[in-house]
Amino acid sequence: MQADIDTRKSAAERNRLGQFATPNALAVDIAQYVESLIIDRRKSGIRFADPSIGSGSFFSAALAVFSSKRMKSAVGIELDPAFADAARELWADAGLEVVRGDFTRIVTNGSCPAAPNVVLANPPYVRHHHMDREDKERLQRLAFKLTGVEVNGLAGLYVYFLLLATAWMEDDGIAAWLIPSEFMDVNYGAALKGYLTDKVTLLRAHRFDPDDVQFGDALVSSVVLVFRKTPPAAAHAVEFTFGGTLAEPHARDLIPRERLRESRKWTAYPSHAKNDRHTLSDGEGPTLGDFFRVQRGIATGCNKFFVLDRTDAKRRGLPGKYLRPILPGPRHLKTTIIDADGDGYPLIDRQLCVIDCDLPEPMVEAKHPALWDYLQTAQALGIMDGYLIGKRSPWYKQEQRQPTPFLCTYMGRGSGDKQPFRFIWNRSKAIGTNLYLMLYPQNSLATMLRRYPDRAEAVHALLGQVTGYELRGEGRVYGGGLNKIEPSELARVSAESFVELWPALSSDVQSQGKLFG
Ligand SMILES: C[S@@+](CC[C@H](N)C(=O)[O-])C[C@H]1O[C@@H](n2cnc3c(N)ncnc32)[C@H](O)[C@@H]1O
Repeated sequence: MQADIDTRKSAAERNRLGQFATPNALAVDIAQYVESLIIDRRKSGIRFADPSIGSGSFFSAALAVFSSKRMKSAVGIELDPAFADAARELWADAGLEVVRGDFTRIVTNGSCPAAPNVVLANPPYVRHHHMDREDKERLQRLAFKLTGVEVNGLAGLYVYFLLLATAWMEDDGIAAWLIPSEFMDVNYGAALKGYLTDKVTLLRAHRFDPDDVQFGDALVSSVVLVFRKTPPAAAHAVEFTFGGTLAEPHARDLIPRERLRESRKWTAYPSHAKNDRHTLSDGEGPTLGDFFRVQRGIATGCNKFFVLDRTDAKRRGLPGKYLRPILPGPRHLKTTIIDADGDGYPLIDRQLCVIDCDLPEPMVEAKHPALWDYLQTAQALGIMDGYLIGKRSPWYKQEQRQPTPFLCTYMGRGSGDKQPFRFIWNRSKAIGTNLYLMLYPQNSLATMLRRYPDRAEAVHALLGQVTGYELRGEGRVYGGGLNKIEPSELARVSAESFVELWPALSSDVQSQGKLFG
């Protein structure tokens, strides 16, 4: 029935409601683990709930693992009538009550079913930009009212589900949540991490290997969180596991709660050779941010329109003054060392330029008819309504970036020691699009490079030696093993090797230390 409903829906529809069912074998693994924690719950019995029941994978697993005698009640909530009907048809006879509706509304109204003591859930993963503003604000207010947590506007729907369902659950109840692991790494996950370390007793966090995507079609890497709704003991430690299955993980470690509270990246646990993510910098030693200002490359709003082959621009007679050399996307850039021709353009097969002009339209029309003609073609492409283009004045003026000798690609793959991102040594005047991070030397490194320009080569070599482990550890990972890194994350990578090679550089780091000392 699940497969049948899935095939009747478009991918967009499934994404909108986060409709990706839990493979039943995984649901059974999760139920078995929970069973090992509630052996003692004989008297009061199990009151099961799944706040987004789908076709009932978790109820099916609960039935198989907890004997039906111990299940005193079971409730599943589901927004989509097709799934609600399917769940009812499949499981009503086995004791599942299916409530059709929006869980985030039901949980606050009088018709909310009695509080469960066991919650097994794989909530909708709907990303924040697919949630409308009013709904997001409603959820933020509700989460704050029920749990005291201020959820960041960038958080996906699953964060609200977890908080609201836990507020609903009976004290001392046990919950298992299959959710994206992204919150473990990013700033907007901080509130949820705080909740998990301080308000409930997190027992287990099992992260799947991102190379082994759980749901072929939902591009995320996931984690199972299991916690008890009771405040944690001061000395509590959480079992973090990675890879393999819940029952037989590839790596495990106990992480004291105190350490978790101070950790930015939870995916670094368990630190084990099999977990390919760890961070070296503890925020104490020198980091790349001490020596580079890291800034994303420019977002043109439409590369297809603003970025042209240099020869094409010439053929059209576009004025060179309003064209800047720009690097091709990382996929088309085969080298990591870029030399320049006499005009500062990269010496590569396809030289590209970006239109960047600050003259007002009447001036362009009067003085640069060829450019004016080209700009007129934007209307037909339908790009004028774009957010970025609409915000700019004039609309063909780009963000200002100086060329920089070092760049880093912003996303990529790689496991083991292989770097997922490439560092580029750029000796041309080209800037990068937002598929690159631009590293501008600053402080003592900038001074050193001005005095000894030859050392740029060694700087590039040191960047090339940052391990793949550390880059992945600071960045974030998506299902299927795609890694991304943001400027602030790259800035946190350890730069110990720079200071080892050039001890004089440490003056910056130390003076900063003194400042905050
Ligand atoms: C990721 S699926 C998981 C389904 C099921 N729990 C499982 O594990 O197979 C999430 C389910 O949540 C439902 N859903 C989405 N938004 C909801 C809402 N606001 N309230 C209740 N259910 C919702 C979707 O229709 C979908 O069936």
